Amino acid sequence: MNPSPEPDRSALRVNPDRLMERLDALARIGAISGTAGCARLALTDEDRAGRDLVVTWMRDLGLDVTVDGIGNVTGVMPSAGDAAPVMTGSHIDTVATGGRYDGNLGVLAGLEVIETVRTAGIEPKRPLAVGFFTDEEGARFPPDMLGSLVYVGGLGLEDALQIEGIDGAVVGDELDRIGYRGIEPCPGAVPHAFIELHIEQGPVLEAEGRHIGAVTGVQGISWTSITITGQSNHAGTTPMSMRRDPAVAAARITTFVHDLANELGHPQVGTVGKIDLRPNLVNVVPQSATMTVDLRNTDDATLQDAERRLRQLLDEMTAPGDLSIDTTTLARFEPVVFDPAVVDLVAAVAESHGHDPLRIPSGAGHDAQMLARVCRTGMIFVPSHDGLSHNPAEHTDPDDLEAGANVLLHTMLHLAEED
Ligand code: GLV
Ligand code: MN
Ligand code: MN
Repeated sequence: MNPSPEPDRSALRVNPDRLMERLDALARIGAISGTAGCARLALTDEDRAGRDLVVTWMRDLGLDVTVDGIGNVTGVMPSAGDAAPVMTGSHIDTVATGGRYDGNLGVLAGLEVIETVRTAGIEPKRPLAVGFFTDEEGARFPPDMLGSLVYVGGLGLEDALQIEGIDGAVVGDELDRIGYRGIEPCPGAVPHAFIELHIEQGPVLEAEGRHIGAVTGVQGISWTSITITGQSNHAGTTPMSMRRDPAVAAARITTFVHDLANELGHPQVGTVGKIDLRPNLVNVVPQSATMTVDLRNTDDATLQDAERRLRQLLDEMTAPGDLSIDTTTLARFEPVVFDPAVVDLVAAVAESHGHDPLRIPSGAGHDAQMLARVCRTGMIFVPSHDGLSHNPAEHTDPDDLEAGANVLLHTMLHLAEED
């Protein structure tokens, strides 16, 4: 008897209800009460519970699941040959005030794509794979994209395992504690191509009335931790002229970063997202301030200029006998340009689905920017309501989630037929 003929691939569509059910189920883990958002910081108990759920779904689908030394999890469709897979995926860790779609969409849409393909009895020439990478957010353990950075060999595993988090925990210990220090080697197997679906996390698609973004690249990222040390003293008795006050310096740096980004102009952005004063009491001039500066630009020369000017300010602020300032680079990634042929493919697939895709660079960091170091890579964006992200109110219309997953499906199927 002849095997039953393959269904018409072009008519294939994901099951949106199954995708939404999985997004809802994952969002219940670490849910922030009274909001739609999630708190699943990397390698916490909540992250472990999310990982366990997604791994269960991968195994239920019959995928070959592996975990590597930094806790990246990959599920690959079993296949007879040894062709490198077409890989998709993202992350399931969130910032402490995260939304339910950032990263999670890319992982669960990847799972949905594979289930759709398998249920339809389609056997692509190359297997499909879906993964989630450890600590994409970098909110607990800098740098961001830590797992994918190690996956592509951009940072040695041993160095990564020793990274200390904002709470004093250490990556390797936390991986052991939650049972996700795997045996798969790092760097990981190079896929044939990598394609990531993600929410835009910005306002552009919505403002332009577009439903699909064909992402052209990712802007460069520079994260610096700055510690300013002064002299702690009594708030009532210390004359203003005799103070060495790190809080004032932190405020000056904050406004400088804001003004600098405005002066350099779009797409330069600058953010002070974290300031810790010690001892942080109403009637004590602080002893120290520890703060972070996040600078980003698609143009590396301008980003370097911004870094240089920040450094200049810090040098000016360090007078002998006054404040001392120490800096540490937490993350520094150059801008990435995605493979033009993959960007064109995403746009063509979106057009064939009746969309008018917009080619845009990404403002946020993504695992795809790391995978682009080793294989042909691209990304698909869907709109974020009001441009909100890293906020529990983050929202994307279910029709857009479905549309993005269908563009992912057909982009992957196309790439999977390549030699
Ligand atoms: C990661 O999500 C980042 O862009 O900060
Ligand atoms: Mn993300
Ligand atoms: Mn994020």
